[in-house]
Amino acid sequence: MFRSFLTRLARRLGWANQASVAAPVAEVAARPAAPAQSALPTDVFTPTRPRSGRKSLVGRQAELTRILDAVLDETAHVVLYSERGRGKTSLSNLTIEALRRRGAIVARCACEAESTFDTIARSLVRDLPPSLLSVELPDADGEGCEAMLPQRSLRPADIAAIPASLNCPFVVFVIDEFDRVTDLETRTRLADTIKLLSDRGIRLYFMVVGVSDTLEQIIGQHPSIQRNIVPIHLPLLRDDEIAGMLTKGGQQAGISFTDAAVRLVVNVARGMPYMAQLLGLRITQAALRRGDEQVQDVDLVAAVNRLLDETSAAVVSTYASLVGAGSEPGMSALLFRLVNAEQDQWGRMAVARTPSHVVVGGRRLPESVWNRLMDTGILIQPEGEGGMVQFRDRGLVYYVQLLAARADLAGERQAAANGAPPLLRPVASGS
Ligand SMILES: Nc1ncnc2c1ncn2[C@@H]1O[C@H](COP(=O)(O)OP(=O)(O)OP(=O)(O)O)[C@@H](O)[C@H]1O
Ligand SMILES: [Mg+2]
Repeated sequence: MFRSFLTRLARRLGWANQASVAAPVAEVAARPAAPAQSALPTDVFTPTRPRSGRKSLVGRQAELTRILDAVLDETAHVVLYSERGRGKTSLSNLTIEALRRRGAIVARCACEAESTFDTIARSLVRDLPPSLLSVELPDADGEGCEAMLPQRSLRPADIAAIPASLNCPFVVFVIDEFDRVTDLETRTRLADTIKLLSDRGIRLYFMVVGVSDTLEQIIGQHPSIQRNIVPIHLPLLRDDEIAGMLTKGGQQAGISFTDAAVRLVVNVARGMPYMAQLLGLRITQAALRRGDEQVQDVDLVAAVNRLLDETSAAVVSTYASLVGAGSEPGMSALLFRLVNAEQDQWGRMAVARTPSHVVVGGRRLPESVWNRLMDTGILIQPEGEGGMVQFRDRGLVYYVQLLAARADLAGERQAAANGAPPLLRPVASGS
């Protein structure tokens, strides 16, 4: 019984798959359990899992409406793209639920590096329930509706023929992780399929999802299908949405986040749901480990330290080389200013020039620092966006924010003295 209590407690603290399950029995037993009706922290904050269900996602209403309009009213195909971890798969889940409620039959697949047009199409058709088939197939072997496809290499016309053999008003094929596909021919065949479906008004729509900064990187250069596609470049979440994610998640986990905790997460995440989920989880775990339902600064310190410890060696060494011996004086403060510069909803910062400085997102950088950041590829220009830059690796942004947060929490950093805004600044509301 005592053992099962410990197991339940470990699950509640989200240790089920972690080394800390092996914590000494006496130490674990000393930690009081939080209220039984609360959800597990790892069920509430899910940095490694896409979300599903309207109630579990914050924001994304505008993007969902745009996707539904595209498919339902404009009979267009959708390409959803963004940098990694911004919530594409979560939004796809939400879209699939909404489409199914409107009568669509949705099949989905996730690509691998080896995926081809053939393997993707077959995997999608396997995901269609055989009960939908409106025709008798001579050879009913295979999963789902797989038997409807010819054995030879598939052509766009084979895909266009699918809806005619199904009893359903319309079909949506969702292809996730399309950026992983290395075979160029697959992109061309998909574009040809989209063209064919559009030209013939066939009610089968594709939603192609992948990591990219541009539409072209995802589907390739196919001007013939541009007008048949609605591109959706998924924005970051707004600060108030991140704050809402935290407070709501806290309530579900039986934890109350202080304003300082919410501000910390908002400021470190800078609109990135993945980071908000991760930091939210670590703070919650730290508070529960103390047996407290109220987050305290000590939990923020524990969470920040843990994330700093888990930062990749590549990011740590990039930072060290930037602020190390021989670098610009005050480089760490400059970096802090830069990672807090004004960004647009896609994380891009406007660049302007004065005779002696480069102004990035409203923050002045000496020319030498700007040159170094561009030469080393820390800042990059997004394709087709001449007057903008973005961080190549968002990990560096988090690292700088976390270091500053650690100093803030230790009361070491005097933000006003170096002209930087205090890290724990108030959260802006609205967009
Ligand atoms: N709208 C949202 N509300 C709450 N959490 C979200 C939201 N969108 C994404 N998340 C969280 O952010 C993280 C990343 O989400 P998701 O896996 O959907 O992103 P992605 O863009 O598909 O990532 P990848 O590029 O790695 O495939 C997950 O932890 C997910 O739970
Ligand atoms: Mg994804």
